[in-house]
Amino acid sequence: MENLFHRISIRKYLNKPVKKEKILEILRAAMAAPSACNQRPWRFTVVTDREKIRELAAVSQYSVFAAAAPVILVISYRKDCLLPEFAPVDTSAALENLWIETDAQGLGGVWMGVYPRPERMAAVGKIAGLPAEEEAFAMFSLGYPGEETRKHDRFQEEWIRWIE
Ligand SMILES: Cc1cc2nc3c(=O)[nH]c(=O)nc-3n(C[C@H](O)[C@H](O)[C@H](O)COP(=O)(O)O)c2cc1C
Repeated sequence: MENLFHRISIRKYLNKPVKKEKILEILRAAMAAPSACNQRPWRFTVVTDREKIRELAAVSQYSVFAAAAPVILVISYRKDCLLPEFAPVDTSAALENLWIETDAQGLGGVWMGVYPRPERMAAVGKIAGLPAEEEAFAMFSLGYPGEETRKHDRFQEEWIRWIE
């Protein structure tokens, strides 16, 4: 629970590589997410190639900072799953798990929106070389935090309605 309130967007990174074991633990957490009919439509592409990272970061004005990240994860989903209309919802759950585990590993990153923008989905899919049955859903930059993380609490009691 602690990590839920400590996770924030980290857009600056130390010049330090991230070990494969840590990335695998982060993806293990992602794959623990719930999904409709347990269809688990998510797939992950781990990018550490500098040129590819630069290309991915250039896809949108909101991801340019990621050019300096040691890793970009491209998160995609399969279009041929049982309930394709739920695939983006399922993959969002995996993203949140992944982000929380990133914080737990002492790392930081940020979700970069790709879905539902068709032009970003096409560009990311092409750069990452995704197979035809997959759709790019999001990118996640990953690295050791080069900025401070702090605990936060955004609880809004007035947003809760009770039907008793
Ligand atoms: C669907 C989604 C798309 C996002 N896209 C971007 C993005 O393209 N670039 C970016 O810098 N941050 C992006 N973010 C991060 C949000 O800006 C950030 O989570 C929000 O401002 C709350 O801040 P926090 O993550 O520090 O709690 C995205 C977050 C979500 C959930």
